[in-house]
Amino acid sequence: MSAPATPRRVIIDTDPGLDDAVAILYAVACGRFEVLGLTTVAGNIGIEASTSNSLRLLAAMARSDVPVRRGAAQPLRRGGAELTSIHGDDGMGGLTLPPPQAQAQGEAVGWLVEQLQSAPAGSVDILALGPLTNIALLVRDHPDAAARMGRLIVMGGAVDEPGNIGARSEYNFATDPEAAQMVLGAGLDLTVIPLDVTRRVRVLPGQIASLRGSRAGDLCAEIIALYFGTGRESRPLHDPCVMLFAVEPGLFGLDTLSLAVDVSEGPEAGALVRYPDGPPIKVAMRVDGPGAIEALRHGLNAAQRSSC
Ligand code: BDR
Ligand code: CA
Repeated sequence: MSAPATPRRVIIDTDPGLDDAVAILYAVACGRFEVLGLTTVAGNIGIEASTSNSLRLLAAMARSDVPVRRGAAQPLRRGGAELTSIHGDDGMGGLTLPPPQAQAQGEAVGWLVEQLQSAPAGSVDILALGPLTNIALLVRDHPDAAARMGRLIVMGGAVDEPGNIGARSEYNFATDPEAAQMVLGAGLDLTVIPLDVTRRVRVLPGQIASLRGSRAGDLCAEIIALYFGTGRESRPLHDPCVMLFAVEPGLFGLDTLSLAVDVSEGPEAGALVRYPDGPPIKVAMRVDGPGAIEALRHGLNAAQRSSC
C-alpha cells in the first residue's frame, strides 16, 4: 500500500454559503489538507454572517482550533449583492448549527501576509471560494507576500458556459470584477474553476443519503438537502470543486486560456472574455462529474473509515 500523501497546507477564503459549507466540511474531514485558517469575505451573505457561519461550521466539526479572520465587507469599488434566494437569509438555508466556540480575531489580509511570510515560499495554497476582494487586496498591497503563495485555486467565471448572474457572468467574479481582473493578472500559480465544470458536478436527490456516515457526511447531507430548495432535480457543487481539484487534479481537464474580466459598468460586468493579450491562465474545462461526487463522499467520511 502506498504511503498517504502529506496533507497540503491551505487557507480557505470563503463566503459561506451552502456550497462553501460543503467545501469547508470536506476540507476539514478528508485528511488531505492541513487547514491553517479561514478568511471570510462578503458575498453570498454579508461579512458578519459569513464570519459567524464559518465559526459555527468549525464548531459543528469540533474544529474551533482552526482560526477565522474577518475579511473585506464590500467589493473594491462596487456594492455587493447577497444571494439570499439560494443561500437563505442567514447564508446557510436556515440550518441549525452550534454557536461559535471561538471568535474571529484580527483581519484577513494582514493575517494572510503573516502566514505567507512565516511559511516556506510556495508551501501554502489558497483555496478561494468567494469574491476575490481579499486576494486582490493581498496582491495589490503586499505583492511580496502574495508571491510566496503556492497554488491559488479559484472558483469563478464562465468560459463557454452561460453565466449564473448575467447571461455571461458568474456570481463571484461579477460581485467584484476589479478584484477578479487584478488577481488574474497577478502572475500567480492560478487555476480557475469556472461554471463550465462546476455545473457538471451535481448531486441528485437520490445520492444525498449516500453522503452520510460521519459527522461531516451527515452535516453535508443536511446542507445539500437545504441547497436543493424545492422542486430542483439536481444542484451543482461549485465550491467543493476547488477542494477536489486541489487533491484529485486527475478528475479535471485543464486548458491554458488567455482571458480578461469585463470591468465595465454594463450588465455583463465580471464576465470572462477570451482576450489574446490577456495573461495565460490554467482553466478547468472538463471534469469527471460522477468521479468527483464519489471523491467527495469518500473524503467526507474518511475519519469514520480510519476509526473502524
Ligand atoms: C459561486 O457563487 C456562490 O453563490 C457560490 O458559493 C459559489 O462560490 C457560484 O457561482
Ligand atoms: Ca462561495
